[in-house]
Amino acid sequence: MPVLQIIAGIIVTIATYLFLLPRLRSRIKGVPVENGIPLIGTKLSELHAGHVYAWERTKSWGQVIGAYGWNPFRLAGVRVSNPKVVKEMLQSNYEVFDKDRFQVEPFDDVAGGLVFIENGWKWKDSREMFEPFFKHAYMRKQQPMFKREMEKLVSCFERDMAKSPTGFDVQELFHRFTFDTISSLTFGFPPESQLNEGSDLLNAFMLMVNESFMRFVKIALIPVPLSWKRNLVKRSSEYEKAHNLLRKVINEKIEAVREAKTDVAKAAQVAEDISVITTLIRDNTVPDWMDRAELIKQLITLLFAGHDTTSNMLTWTFYFLAHYPDCQQKLRDEALAAFGRDGELDIDTLERSKYCTAFLKESLRLRPSSLGQPRFPSKPVSIEWDDTTTGTKGNKLEVRPGMSVMYDQWAMQRDPNIWGPTVEEFDPERFIKDPHGGATSIYAFVPFSYGPRRCLGEKLALTEGRWILTEIVRRWKVVPADKWDYQIAVVGNMRARYGIGVKIVPLSEE
Ligand code: HEM
Repeated sequence: MPVLQIIAGIIVTIATYLFLLPRLRSRIKGVPVENGIPLIGTKLSELHAGHVYAWERTKSWGQVIGAYGWNPFRLAGVRVSNPKVVKEMLQSNYEVFDKDRFQVEPFDDVAGGLVFIENGWKWKDSREMFEPFFKHAYMRKQQPMFKREMEKLVSCFERDMAKSPTGFDVQELFHRFTFDTISSLTFGFPPESQLNEGSDLLNAFMLMVNESFMRFVKIALIPVPLSWKRNLVKRSSEYEKAHNLLRKVINEKIEAVREAKTDVAKAAQVAEDISVITTLIRDNTVPDWMDRAELIKQLITLLFAGHDTTSNMLTWTFYFLAHYPDCQQKLRDEALAAFGRDGELDIDTLERSKYCTAFLKESLRLRPSSLGQPRFPSKPVSIEWDDTTTGTKGNKLEVRPGMSVMYDQWAMQRDPNIWGPTVEEFDPERFIKDPHGGATSIYAFVPFSYGPRRCLGEKLALTEGRWILTEIVRRWKVVPADKWDYQIAVVGNMRARYGIGVKIVPLSEE
């Protein structure tokens, strides 16, 4: 390439940047902002572990910090770890702090369900449609399913321990367990990923998730306005095949309910099926405006929302379980007192297991499956806050359309100014003494978010967590693997980089 053209390109890039920089900065008034590099902003420094990086900034700069990311044409952003500002975003002014369809467009097929990204009446309608499936009464009806999947998990623990006596990875097991659980709940059958160490449905779903993520990254990296590049990154033929498989499963379920109106044998089957999809079609509770394509998106989104989040929670819970034997013993005492060695588990008693719930919460405090979530203000809002990190009072944050505002769970849930000097310790007792863990504000502990858009699946996730913890600790002592590198793999989620290795020892052999 001629040298002159390269030089001209560099000059244009720098000039554009110098032109944009003051505008970006002026969009984030009253907040410290780091200098970025042309066309990349501050994202490079966040590439590996954005939340850890932001937490380091927060410690010295305060609880609201500025950044401007991949795409300098579009967004100036702030990260918030101040509970008062988070309250504005999630509760008091939640209708202004929108989710953004545009931002998640690359994930449209897997996470594009309206309940996840839409705002206003469409969000309300779809949330209302799904709400009955996440209530206690419905969880109770699903007990046989939890029991069945749990039995398979137990046999996978036994199988993997026999295969690798120095330690086996629980992350993979939970990845399959949570997929089969949420698929059973949604479609009425398990894909049998657990016993077969994978399944066609899980493979298809993961292919879609991974390719969507790569599209997201590629789209983010191309420094032109988002509206220009929507079609620049196409989906592969494997992706289309995977999508067709999921669509086929859903379509067949819908057709079965329709056929049941005229077919007595099918009618009996359908009457017993309590899955989300069959219930919605049978009871005719899908809103009229939601066509088949939208409904399919909604159902796949349930898989997305309920899979990795819960699997990551379970994975890190087992890290703490193996490394804190005293806490594990307290869990065991509670489990044995409630159910004995062989008593059948039930969700009502599990819900009363205080220590178990506290253990899960403490694990989510230090390893939140959701590290931070963005919002996109639809109107200008001015928020006043006192910063307990820097000690400054009466700060003013002016947010406006065009900005992204992210509430940062990672930073907020490990801030000593909010939690006190024992913040770094793993101590479930803090959630026994106080349901909010002794934090200075209830908006400081938001692993499932808060307010009207709080996680719909919280009860389901906690039920899975309580069920597994109780069943495992009353059978086995869980200890760390002989040799394992325990690390967080941080690319926007809370997976463990090399999984979490544990060994299980039968209690009778102690
Ligand atoms: C430990 C497990 C889980 C964690 C930590 C978690 C966390 C969250 C968070 C932080 C949000 C809010 C996102 C935002 O602010 O933009 C959310 C929303 C949501 N979650 Fe979960 N989640 C978990 C499990 C589940 C499960 C099992 C389901 C079941 C399908 C589920 C379904 C949803 C849905 C549908 C929403 C959107 C709610 C709305 O916008 O009204 N989640 N979750």
